[in-house]
Amino acid sequence: METSLQTSHDLQQRLTELSLFMESGRDFWANSALFRWSLPWEAAYPGLADGLRALPLARIEELEASPGACAQAPDPYNSLWRRSLELSEVPRLRFEAPGRLSKWAHVGIRGRKWAQIQAFVGTVWAQNPRDCGRIFDWCGGKGHLGRTLAQVFGKSLRVVDRDPALCRAAGELAERAGVSCEAVVRDAAEPGAGALLDEAPLAVALHACGCLGSRFLAHAAEQRVPFLATAGCCYHRIVGRDFVPLSERGRRADLRLDRELMRLATTEVVAPTAANRSVRRRTSTFRAGLQILAADLGWSREPLSVGYVPSNLFRLEFPAFCQAVAARWGTELPAPVDAARIIPRARERARCTRALDLVRYIFRRPLELWLVLDRALFLAEQGRSVCLGTFCARSVTPRNLMLCSALESSNFPSAAS
Ligand SMILES: C[S@@+](CC[C@H](N)C(=O)[O-])C[C@H]1O[C@@H](n2cnc3c(N)ncnc32)[C@H](O)[C@@H]1O
Repeated sequence: METSLQTSHDLQQRLTELSLFMESGRDFWANSALFRWSLPWEAAYPGLADGLRALPLARIEELEASPGACAQAPDPYNSLWRRSLELSEVPRLRFEAPGRLSKWAHVGIRGRKWAQIQAFVGTVWAQNPRDCGRIFDWCGGKGHLGRTLAQVFGKSLRVVDRDPALCRAAGELAERAGVSCEAVVRDAAEPGAGALLDEAPLAVALHACGCLGSRFLAHAAEQRVPFLATAGCCYHRIVGRDFVPLSERGRRADLRLDRELMRLATTEVVAPTAANRSVRRRTSTFRAGLQILAADLGWSREPLSVGYVPSNLFRLEFPAFCQAVAARWGTELPAPVDAARIIPRARERARCTRALDLVRYIFRRPLELWLVLDRALFLAEQGRSVCLGTFCARSVTPRNLMLCSALESSNFPSAAS
Protein backbone atom coordinates (compact mmCIF):
# COMPACT_ATOMS: atom_id res chain seq x y z
CA MET A 1 0.00 0.00 0.00
CA GLU A 2 1.11 3.55 -0.80
CA THR A 3 1.72 5.04 2.65
CA SER A 4 2.06 8.73 1.84
CA LEU A 5 -0.72 10.68 3.54
CA GLN A 6 -0.04 14.13 2.27
CA THR A 7 -2.26 14.96 -0.66
CA SER A 8 -5.96 15.41 -0.36
CA HIS A 9 -6.34 12.42 -2.69
CA ASP A 10 -4.24 10.15 -0.41
CA LEU A 11 -6.25 11.23 2.61
CA GLN A 12 -9.60 10.71 0.91
CA GLN A 13 -8.62 7.35 -0.50
CA ARG A 14 -7.48 6.05 2.86
CA LEU A 15 -10.61 7.35 4.57
CA THR A 16 -12.74 5.56 1.98
CA GLU A 17 -10.84 2.27 2.41
CA LEU A 18 -10.98 2.49 6.18
CA SER A 19 -14.69 3.35 6.10
CA LEU A 20 -15.36 0.19 4.05
CA PHE A 21 -13.27 -1.92 6.40
CA MET A 22 -14.92 -0.50 9.52
CA GLU A 23 -18.42 -0.74 8.08
CA SER A 24 -18.03 -4.31 6.82
CA GLY A 25 -16.52 -5.39 10.16
CA ARG A 26 -19.01 -3.47 12.30
CA ASP A 27 -20.34 -6.59 14.06
CA PHE A 28 -16.80 -7.39 15.21
CA TRP A 29 -16.07 -4.05 16.88
CA ALA A 30 -19.33 -2.32 17.74
CA ASN A 31 -20.14 -4.68 20.61
CA SER A 32 -17.94 -5.60 23.52
CA ALA A 33 -18.20 -9.02 25.14
CA LEU A 34 -18.19 -7.12 28.45
CA PHE A 35 -21.83 -6.22 27.95
CA ARG A 36 -23.14 -9.37 26.26
CA TRP A 37 -23.35 -13.06 27.07
CA SER A 38 -22.64 -13.74 23.40
CA LEU A 39 -21.58 -11.54 20.48
CA PRO A 40 -23.46 -11.00 17.19
CA TRP A 41 -20.65 -12.54 15.11
CA GLU A 42 -20.35 -15.75 17.15
CA ALA A 43 -23.16 -17.57 15.31
CA ALA A 44 -21.54 -16.91 11.93
CA TYR A 45 -17.99 -17.72 13.13
CA PRO A 46 -18.27 -20.41 15.83
CA GLY A 47 -14.75 -21.67 15.07
CA LEU A 48 -13.29 -18.24 15.74
CA ALA A 49 -15.20 -17.88 19.01
CA ASP A 50 -14.07 -21.36 20.15
CA GLY A 51 -10.44 -20.68 19.13
CA LEU A 52 -10.35 -17.43 21.09
CA ARG A 53 -12.10 -18.90 24.13
CA ALA A 54 -9.45 -21.63 24.25
CA LEU A 55 -6.59 -19.11 24.60
CA PRO A 56 -4.78 -19.10 27.94
CA LEU A 57 -4.93 -15.83 29.87
CA ALA A 58 -1.21 -15.12 29.46
CA ARG A 59 -1.54 -15.27 25.65
CA ILE A 60 -4.62 -13.04 25.77
CA GLU A 61 -2.63 -10.50 27.80
CA GLU A 62 0.20 -10.62 25.29
CA LEU A 63 -2.19 -9.93 22.41
CA GLU A 64 -3.93 -7.14 24.31
CA ALA A 65 -0.61 -5.38 24.89
CA SER A 66 0.78 -6.04 21.47
CA PRO A 67 -1.93 -6.92 18.95
CA GLY A 68 -0.77 -9.25 16.23
CA ALA A 69 -1.44 -12.38 14.26
CA CYS A 70 -2.56 -15.36 16.34
CA ALA A 71 -1.89 -18.87 15.07
CA GLN A 72 -4.51 -20.37 17.43
CA ALA A 73 -7.27 -18.07 16.18
CA PRO A 74 -9.01 -19.30 13.02
CA ASP A 75 -9.97 -16.98 10.22
CA PRO A 76 -11.25 -14.38 9.74
CA TYR A 77 -9.08 -13.24 12.68
CA ASN A 78 -5.78 -13.27 10.83
CA SER A 79 -7.13 -11.95 7.53
CA LEU A 80 -8.82 -9.07 9.37
CA TRP A 81 -5.59 -8.46 11.24
CA ARG A 82 -3.56 -8.35 8.01
CA ARG A 83 -6.01 -5.90 6.42
CA SER A 84 -5.99 -3.77 9.56
CA LEU A 85 -2.19 -3.59 9.42
CA GLU A 86 -2.23 -2.57 5.75
CA LEU A 87 -4.82 0.11 6.31
CA SER A 88 -3.12 1.46 9.42
CA GLU A 89 0.22 1.94 7.77
CA VAL A 90 1.33 5.54 8.02
CA PRO A 91 4.70 7.12 7.30
CA ARG A 92 7.07 8.25 10.02
CA LEU A 93 7.27 12.01 9.65
CA ARG A 94 10.66 13.48 8.91
CA PHE A 95 12.71 14.27 12.02
CA GLU A 96 15.66 16.59 12.37
CA ALA A 97 17.35 17.30 15.69
CA PRO A 98 17.15 21.05 16.27
CA GLY A 99 20.46 22.76 16.86
CA ARG A 100 19.54 25.20 19.58
CA LEU A 101 18.22 22.96 22.33
CA SER A 102 19.90 23.73 25.67
CA LYS A 103 21.17 20.73 27.59
CA TRP A 104 18.96 21.83 30.54
CA ALA A 105 15.77 21.90 28.45
CA HIS A 106 14.51 18.60 29.89
CA VAL A 107 14.80 19.60 33.56
CA GLY A 108 11.47 19.02 35.35
CA ILE A 109 10.01 16.88 32.54
CA ARG A 110 9.48 13.17 33.13
CA GLY A 111 11.28 10.63 30.91
CA ARG A 112 8.53 9.52 28.54
CA LYS A 113 7.11 13.05 28.25
CA TRP A 114 10.56 14.37 27.35
CA ALA A 115 10.94 11.67 24.70
CA GLN A 116 7.56 12.75 23.22
CA ILE A 117 8.55 16.41 23.29
CA GLN A 118 11.92 15.81 21.66
CA ALA A 119 10.25 13.79 18.90
CA PHE A 120 7.49 16.37 18.41
CA VAL A 121 9.88 19.32 18.36
CA GLY A 122 12.29 17.60 15.95
CA THR A 123 9.38 16.79 13.65
CA VAL A 124 8.16 20.40 13.65
CA TRP A 125 11.73 21.60 13.11
CA ALA A 126 12.15 19.29 10.10
CA GLN A 127 9.04 20.86 8.51
CA ASN A 128 10.88 24.18 8.57
CA PRO A 129 7.83 26.35 9.29
CA ARG A 130 8.32 29.93 8.20
CA ASP A 131 6.64 33.28 8.78
CA CYS A 132 5.36 32.42 12.22
CA GLY A 133 5.05 34.86 15.13
CA ARG A 134 5.20 33.41 18.60
CA ILE A 135 4.71 29.81 19.72
CA PHE A 136 1.20 28.99 20.88
CA ASP A 137 0.60 25.91 23.10
CA TRP A 138 -3.12 24.92 23.31
CA CYS A 139 -4.13 23.05 26.50
CA GLY A 140 -0.42 23.21 27.18
CA GLY A 141 -0.36 22.29 30.89
CA LYS A 142 3.03 23.38 32.20
CA GLY A 143 3.96 24.44 28.69
CA HIS A 144 6.79 21.93 28.31
CA LEU A 145 6.25 21.53 24.57
CA GLY A 146 5.67 25.22 23.88
CA ARG A 147 8.66 26.26 25.98
CA THR A 148 10.96 23.83 24.20
CA LEU A 149 9.74 25.05 20.80
CA ALA A 150 10.14 28.68 21.92
CA GLN A 151 13.77 27.95 22.80
CA VAL A 152 14.44 26.15 19.55
CA PHE A 153 12.83 28.80 17.33
CA GLY A 154 13.93 31.77 19.45
CA LYS A 155 10.32 33.01 19.86
CA SER A 156 8.09 34.09 22.70
CA LEU A 157 5.40 31.74 24.02
CA ARG A 158 1.69 31.83 24.82
CA VAL A 159 0.28 28.85 26.74
CA VAL A 160 -3.42 28.34 27.33
CA ASP A 161 -4.76 25.97 29.96
CA ARG A 162 -7.76 26.07 32.26
CA ASP A 163 -5.76 25.02 35.31
CA PRO A 164 -4.34 28.06 37.15
CA ALA A 165 -1.67 26.01 38.97
CA LEU A 166 -0.37 24.59 35.67
CA CYS A 167 -0.34 28.06 34.12
CA ARG A 168 1.60 29.42 37.10
CA ALA A 169 4.13 26.59 36.71
CA ALA A 170 4.33 27.29 32.94
CA GLY A 171 5.19 30.93 33.65
CA GLU A 172 7.84 30.03 36.25
CA LEU A 173 9.48 27.33 34.14
CA ALA A 174 9.59 29.65 31.12
CA GLU A 175 11.17 32.43 33.17
CA ARG A 176 13.84 30.02 34.40
CA ALA A 177 14.52 28.97 30.80
CA GLY A 178 14.75 32.62 29.70
CA VAL A 179 11.63 32.36 27.52
CA SER A 180 9.21 35.27 27.41
CA CYS A 181 5.85 33.68 28.21
CA GLU A 182 2.23 34.63 28.65
CA ALA A 183 0.31 31.84 30.41
CA VAL A 184 -3.42 32.38 29.96
CA VAL A 185 -5.90 30.66 32.29
CA ARG A 186 -8.84 29.99 30.02
CA ASP A 187 -11.40 27.31 29.21
CA ALA A 188 -10.41 26.34 25.67
CA ALA A 189 -13.96 25.09 25.06
CA GLU A 190 -15.32 28.66 25.25
CA PRO A 191 -16.26 29.93 21.80
CA GLY A 192 -14.10 33.06 22.16
CA ALA A 193 -10.93 31.10 22.97
CA GLY A 194 -9.94 31.00 19.29
CA ALA A 195 -9.12 34.72 19.42
CA LEU A 196 -6.04 33.80 21.46
CA LEU A 197 -4.53 32.38 18.27
CA ASP A 198 -3.83 35.86 16.93
CA GLU A 199 -0.47 37.17 15.68
CA ALA A 200 0.15 34.28 13.28
CA PRO A 201 1.53 31.80 15.76
CA LEU A 202 3.21 28.48 15.22
CA ALA A 203 0.47 26.64 17.08
CA VAL A 204 0.74 23.24 18.74
CA ALA A 205 -1.58 20.99 20.71
CA LEU A 206 -0.18 17.82 22.22
CA HIS A 207 -2.75 15.39 23.61
CA ALA A 208 -5.52 17.94 23.95
CA CYS A 209 -8.48 15.68 24.66
CA GLY A 210 -11.29 15.00 22.18
CA CYS A 211 -13.26 18.05 21.20
CA LEU A 212 -10.55 20.39 22.55
CA GLY A 213 -8.28 19.02 19.83
CA SER A 214 -10.91 19.52 17.12
CA ARG A 215 -11.73 23.03 18.37
CA PHE A 216 -8.05 23.83 18.10
CA LEU A 217 -8.11 22.88 14.42
CA ALA A 218 -11.31 24.81 13.72
CA HIS A 219 -9.94 27.95 15.39
CA ALA A 220 -6.55 27.59 13.73
CA ALA A 221 -8.19 27.25 10.30
CA GLU A 222 -10.42 30.27 10.94
CA GLN A 223 -7.51 32.39 12.18
CA ARG A 224 -5.38 31.32 9.22
CA VAL A 225 -2.59 30.14 11.50
CA PRO A 226 0.51 29.78 9.28
CA PHE A 227 1.62 26.43 10.72
CA LEU A 228 0.15 24.01 13.21
CA ALA A 229 1.11 20.61 14.56
CA THR A 230 -0.98 18.38 16.74
CA ALA A 231 -1.27 14.87 18.15
CA GLY A 232 -4.64 14.08 19.69
CA CYS A 233 -5.89 11.76 22.40
CA CYS A 234 -9.15 10.63 24.10
CA TYR A 235 -11.11 11.22 20.88
CA HIS A 236 -14.30 10.05 22.62
CA ARG A 237 -14.43 13.14 24.84
CA ILE A 238 -16.94 14.92 22.67
CA VAL A 239 -19.81 17.24 23.46
CA GLY A 240 -23.07 15.26 23.33
CA ARG A 241 -23.50 11.56 22.64
CA ASP A 242 -23.11 11.31 18.86
CA PHE A 243 -19.96 12.14 16.96
CA VAL A 244 -20.21 14.66 14.14
CA PRO A 245 -17.18 14.41 11.83
CA LEU A 246 -15.29 17.65 11.25
CA SER A 247 -14.79 17.11 7.53
CA GLU A 248 -17.30 16.97 4.72
CA ARG A 249 -15.76 13.64 3.61
CA GLY A 250 -16.05 12.27 7.12
CA ARG A 251 -19.70 13.27 7.32
CA ARG A 252 -20.36 11.59 3.98
CA ALA A 253 -18.66 8.37 5.11
CA ASP A 254 -21.07 8.34 8.08
CA LEU A 255 -19.49 5.74 10.36
CA ARG A 256 -22.28 6.29 12.92
CA LEU A 257 -20.00 6.73 15.90
CA ASP A 258 -20.98 7.70 19.38
CA ARG A 259 -18.94 8.42 22.47
CA GLU A 260 -18.98 4.80 23.66
CA LEU A 261 -17.92 3.37 20.29
CA MET A 262 -15.14 5.93 20.01
CA ARG A 263 -13.56 4.75 23.26
CA LEU A 264 -12.20 1.78 21.31
CA ALA A 265 -9.69 4.05 19.51
CA THR A 266 -7.67 4.73 22.65
CA THR A 267 -8.12 1.70 24.88
CA GLU A 268 -4.68 0.13 24.80
CA VAL A 269 -2.03 0.24 27.52
CA VAL A 270 1.52 0.09 26.26
CA ALA A 271 3.88 -2.35 27.98
CA PRO A 272 1.80 -3.17 31.09
CA THR A 273 3.87 -4.19 34.12
CA ALA A 274 3.32 -7.42 36.08
CA ALA A 275 1.55 -5.30 38.71
CA ASN A 276 -0.80 -3.77 36.06
CA ARG A 277 -1.62 -7.28 34.85
CA SER A 278 -2.42 -8.58 38.27
CA VAL A 279 -4.68 -5.57 39.03
CA ARG A 280 -6.45 -6.09 35.71
CA ARG A 281 -6.97 -9.82 36.45
CA ARG A 282 -8.56 -9.00 39.80
CA THR A 283 -10.74 -6.13 38.54
CA SER A 284 -11.99 -8.03 35.50
CA THR A 285 -12.82 -11.08 37.66
CA PHE A 286 -14.67 -8.97 40.25
CA ARG A 287 -16.62 -7.11 37.57
CA ALA A 288 -17.56 -10.38 35.87
CA GLY A 289 -18.49 -11.80 39.29
CA LEU A 290 -20.83 -8.90 39.92
CA GLN A 291 -22.49 -9.51 36.55
CA ILE A 292 -22.96 -13.19 37.38
CA LEU A 293 -24.38 -12.33 40.80
CA ALA A 294 -26.78 -9.78 39.27
CA ALA A 295 -27.92 -12.37 36.69
CA ASP A 296 -28.40 -15.03 39.40
CA LEU A 297 -30.50 -12.54 41.37
CA GLY A 298 -32.57 -11.84 38.24
CA TRP A 299 -31.56 -8.17 38.22
CA SER A 300 -30.78 -8.00 34.50
CA ARG A 301 -31.00 -10.20 31.40
CA GLU A 302 -27.93 -8.83 29.64
CA PRO A 303 -24.69 -8.57 31.65
CA LEU A 304 -25.04 -5.65 34.02
CA SER A 305 -23.13 -2.54 33.06
CA VAL A 306 -21.03 -2.20 36.20
CA GLY A 307 -19.74 1.29 35.38
CA TYR A 308 -17.24 3.20 37.47
CA VAL A 309 -16.09 1.55 40.70
CA PRO A 310 -13.47 3.31 42.89
CA SER A 311 -10.19 1.39 42.73
CA ASN A 312 -9.94 0.94 46.54
CA LEU A 313 -13.07 -1.28 46.51
CA PHE A 314 -11.22 -3.90 44.45
CA ARG A 315 -8.91 -4.45 47.43
CA LEU A 316 -11.83 -5.86 49.46
CA GLU A 317 -12.72 -9.54 49.54
CA PHE A 318 -15.31 -10.38 46.86
CA PRO A 319 -18.42 -10.52 49.16
CA ALA A 320 -17.52 -7.16 50.76
CA PHE A 321 -16.81 -5.73 47.29
CA CYS A 322 -20.30 -6.74 46.11
CA GLN A 323 -21.92 -5.21 49.20
CA ALA A 324 -19.95 -1.97 48.79
CA VAL A 325 -20.90 -1.64 45.11
CA ALA A 326 -24.55 -2.43 45.88
CA ALA A 327 -24.48 0.29 48.57
CA ARG A 328 -23.09 2.76 46.00
CA TRP A 329 -26.06 1.86 43.81
CA GLY A 330 -28.39 2.56 46.75
CA THR A 331 -29.48 -1.05 47.18
CA GLU A 332 -28.78 -4.06 49.39
CA LEU A 333 -27.95 -7.67 48.53
CA PRO A 334 -30.75 -10.04 49.61
CA ALA A 335 -28.37 -12.77 50.84
CA PRO A 336 -24.68 -13.27 51.67
CA VAL A 337 -22.47 -13.67 48.60
CA ASP A 338 -21.11 -17.18 48.02
CA ALA A 339 -17.66 -16.32 46.66
CA ALA A 340 -16.58 -19.97 46.33
CA ARG A 341 -19.47 -20.55 43.91
CA ILE A 342 -19.15 -17.33 41.90
CA ILE A 343 -15.42 -16.63 41.63
CA PRO A 344 -14.47 -19.66 39.42
CA ARG A 345 -17.29 -18.75 36.98
CA ALA A 346 -16.22 -15.11 37.12
CA ARG A 347 -12.60 -15.98 36.30
CA GLU A 348 -13.76 -17.98 33.32
CA ARG A 349 -16.12 -15.27 32.11
CA ALA A 350 -13.42 -12.59 32.51
CA ARG A 351 -10.93 -14.68 30.50
CA CYS A 352 -13.44 -15.42 27.72
CA THR A 353 -14.60 -11.80 27.58
CA ARG A 354 -11.05 -10.59 27.15
CA ALA A 355 -10.38 -13.29 24.55
CA LEU A 356 -13.43 -12.43 22.44
CA ASP A 357 -12.67 -8.70 22.66
CA LEU A 358 -9.31 -9.35 20.94
CA VAL A 359 -11.27 -9.21 17.68
CA ARG A 360 -12.41 -5.67 18.54
CA TYR A 361 -8.82 -4.57 19.05
CA ILE A 362 -8.06 -5.39 15.41
CA PHE A 363 -10.18 -2.33 14.60
CA ARG A 364 -8.64 -0.06 17.23
CA ARG A 365 -5.86 1.54 15.19
CA PRO A 366 -7.99 1.77 12.02
CA LEU A 367 -10.63 3.65 14.02
CA GLU A 368 -8.04 6.00 15.51
CA LEU A 369 -6.58 6.64 12.08
CA TRP A 370 -10.07 7.25 10.66
CA LEU A 371 -10.66 9.92 13.32
CA VAL A 372 -7.34 11.61 12.57
CA LEU A 373 -7.98 11.43 8.82
CA ASP A 374 -11.27 13.23 9.39
CA ARG A 375 -9.31 16.04 11.06
CA ALA A 376 -6.73 16.05 8.27
CA LEU A 377 -9.42 16.24 5.61
CA PHE A 378 -11.08 19.10 7.43
CA LEU A 379 -7.83 21.07 7.18
CA ALA A 380 -7.42 20.12 3.52
CA GLU A 381 -10.99 21.27 2.85
CA GLN A 382 -9.97 24.66 4.30
CA GLY A 383 -7.37 24.89 1.55
CA ARG A 384 -4.42 24.08 3.81
CA SER A 385 -1.61 21.65 3.11
CA VAL A 386 -1.61 18.68 5.43
CA CYS A 387 0.79 15.91 6.35
CA LEU A 388 -0.18 12.95 8.53
CA GLY A 389 2.19 10.40 10.03
CA THR A 390 3.72 9.18 13.27
CA PHE A 391 6.13 11.32 15.27
CA CYS A 392 7.49 8.70 17.68
CA ALA A 393 7.42 4.98 18.42
CA ARG A 394 4.30 3.50 19.97
CA SER A 395 6.32 2.61 23.07
CA VAL A 396 6.87 6.35 23.70
CA THR A 397 3.16 7.05 23.41
CA PRO A 398 0.45 5.01 21.68
CA ARG A 399 -1.12 8.36 20.68
CA ASN A 400 1.65 8.92 18.16
CA LEU A 401 -0.32 10.08 15.10
CA MET A 402 0.60 13.64 14.24
CA LEU A 403 -0.91 16.16 11.89
CA CYS A 404 1.09 19.07 10.53
CA SER A 405 -0.60 21.72 8.44
CA ALA A 406 0.56 24.89 6.75
CA LEU A 407 -1.27 27.68 5.00
CA GLU A 408 0.99 27.52 1.96
CA SER A 409 1.90 24.24 0.33
CA SER A 410 5.37 25.65 -0.37
CA ASN A 411 5.82 25.76 3.41
CA PHE A 412 5.81 22.02 3.63
CA PRO A 413 8.45 19.37 3.14
CA SER A 414 7.27 15.81 3.23
CA ALA A 415 7.35 12.69 5.30
CA ALA A 416 10.45 10.55 5.73
CA SER A 417 10.61 7.91 3.06
C1 LIG B 1 -3.30 15.48 28.62
S1 LIG B 1 -2.91 17.06 29.20
C2 LIG B 1 -1.78 17.60 27.98
C3 LIG B 1 -0.92 18.72 28.49
C4 LIG B 1 0.23 19.11 27.55
N1 LIG B 1 -0.23 19.49 26.24
C5 LIG B 1 1.23 17.99 27.46
O1 LIG B 1 1.24 17.27 26.47
O2 LIG B 1 1.97 17.81 28.43
C6 LIG B 1 -4.36 17.96 28.84
C7 LIG B 1 -4.33 19.40 29.35
O3 LIG B 1 -5.55 20.02 28.94
C8 LIG B 1 -5.96 20.88 29.96
N2 LIG B 1 -7.40 21.11 29.78
C9 LIG B 1 -8.39 20.19 29.93
N3 LIG B 1 -9.58 20.76 29.65
C10 LIG B 1 -9.33 22.04 29.31
C11 LIG B 1 -10.15 23.11 28.89
N4 LIG B 1 -11.48 22.97 28.81
N5 LIG B 1 -9.57 24.29 28.60
C12 LIG B 1 -8.22 24.45 28.70
N6 LIG B 1 -7.40 23.46 29.09
C13 LIG B 1 -7.94 22.26 29.38
C14 LIG B 1 -5.59 20.17 31.24
O4 LIG B 1 -5.50 21.06 32.33
C15 LIG B 1 -4.25 19.55 30.85
O5 LIG B 1 -3.18 20.40 31.16
